[in-house]
Amino acid sequence: MVKTRTWILITAVLLPTVAQANGEKGKTLYGKYCVACHGESGKGDGPAGAALKPKPRDLTDKAYMDSVKDEYLAAIIQKGGPAVGKSALMPAWGAMLKDDDVRDVVEFIKGLAK
Ligand code: HEC
Repeated sequence: MVKTRTWILITAVLLPTVAQANGEKGKTLYGKYCVACHGESGKGDGPAGAALKPKPRDLTDKAYMDSVKDEYLAAIIQKGGPAVGKSALMPAWGAMLKDDDVRDVVEFIKGLAK
């Protein structure tokens, strides 16, 4: 009995910490690798994105972001635009970002669409 209660307590304390850490890490990675094109807010208005054709996707477009799966987002981030039939102007980040980094970035960009 005591054991079960202890586990519930540990889980309750740790889970929010883990979730927050991921979002925070995703934000840091986004700031480092994505912001130049996709912009601070995710609207696709970063300084390096302005001249691009097609424009970087507006990541705050909730209807669009809700319509795609996490696996799809992870794939384009990891392997670049051409891997999912999009422009090569969206680079592949697989060499820089590990699987859990990609997951954190996906988590963060999904939070941009409200
Ligand atoms: C060099 C500029 C550039 C950088 C840096 C960049 N992107 Fe992109 N991204 C693009 C462009 C351009 C597109 C649009 C591709 C298209 O519509 O064919 C795009 C599209 C996307 C899409 C949407 C794909 C879709 O279905 O339309 C996602 C998600 C995305 N980028 C995430 C990221 C993330 C996360 C990072 C950082 C790890 C990042 N991008 C860094 C230029 C960039």
